Amino acid sequence: MFLLRARHSAILRPAPLAPLTRLSGRRIPNPHFQARFLSNTTTLREDQAKTRTAIVTGASRGIGRAIAVRLAQDGYAVTVNDLPSLQTELESLAGELRSTFGAERAYAHTADVSSPEQVAGLVQASIARLGPLDTFVANAGIAQVKPLLELTPEDWKRMFEVNVAGVHYCFQEAARAMIAHGTKNGMGEGKGKVGVRGKLISAASIVAFKPFARLGHYSASKWAVRGLTQVYAMELAKYGITVNAYAPGIVDTKMWELIDDGLGKMEGKPKGEMIRRYSDQLIALGRTSVPEDVAGLVSFLAGKDADYITGQTYIVDGGIIYT
Ligand SMILES: NC(=O)c1ccc[n+]([C@@H]2O[C@H](COP(=O)([O-])OP(=O)(O)OC[C@H]3O[C@@H](n4cnc5c(N)ncnc54)[C@H](O)[C@@H]3O)[C@@H](O)[C@H]2O)c1
Repeated sequence: MFLLRARHSAILRPAPLAPLTRLSGRRIPNPHFQARFLSNTTTLREDQAKTRTAIVTGASRGIGRAIAVRLAQDGYAVTVNDLPSLQTELESLAGELRSTFGAERAYAHTADVSSPEQVAGLVQASIARLGPLDTFVANAGIAQVKPLLELTPEDWKRMFEVNVAGVHYCFQEAARAMIAHGTKNGMGEGKGKVGVRGKLISAASIVAFKPFARLGHYSASKWAVRGLTQVYAMELAKYGITVNAYAPGIVDTKMWELIDDGLGKMEGKPKGEMIRRYSDQLIALGRTSVPEDVAGLVSFLAGKDADYITGQTYIVDGGIIYT
């Protein structure tokens, strides 16, 4: 009932513009603003009762960070994850999210996604802290620039452990938790059931459609993520869980710094030259992507408007690959 009132009221009286904060260039309502706006219609406590939750891996920087910020702006309580070596950065992000959106809206938990035990700990800790899990974004990934003929078995193994097994462990653990929660609340499995109960979202890449030379095992790993995402979608549809992937192009992050450095060394080019050249030659829209380009797509995939979409990999690359 209060939801209807809140919606109705919001339509009648458009919200004034909220102050900007330093998290990104987007407008982010601060908690005082939210409290004032909500007080006409419902209480903050009531609003929090329906807060959806998300876990984002690899969230201390780059695309994962932008996704975490965007989901928080969308109203989610977010567990941010990264490797223990990035705990300080991760805690700082969670702190910023809490001070902007409220004490119960962010939690930091370090874990290596290539460890099934650590992933289980991540999901359980997030549920204990923020409540039942609605959305899991398996964003964490690594890249390496090396010709196939020079790859060691360890190079190959680590790439697939993080980029492919990591997504599998995350999806498996998240889905088990979503199903257990749904079953407890009387929502059994069944085709055609109304109401999506969970969203799993993975990080693929344009190289899952057209590989880049010298990024062979990275390309193969992202191609595998696309396939894995499709099979998860097939197997989890009966539980009302949708599974999709995002496929960014050339995004200016630490990962592309590493790629630029690797390709530049092979071609004798100075720092920054390869990303500039690839962007100029390949991207129709004429600019290198920023993490927020990807976060917007993830926001859509996590949201209600994507409830009838599953098993898809969406390209967000400014016009490099055309499907
Ligand atoms: N940058 C791009 O152009 C681009 C393009 C296509 C796809 N992607 C994919 O998007 C995702 C994010 O990329 P990014 O550009 O932000 O990279 P990034 O290197 O800036 O960030 C990746 C994050 O993942 C974390 N991470 C790595 N291994 C981990 C592990 N085992 N457990 C937990 N966390 C781990 C890193 O510590 C880092 O914080 C990756 O999966 C990447 O492959 C990136």
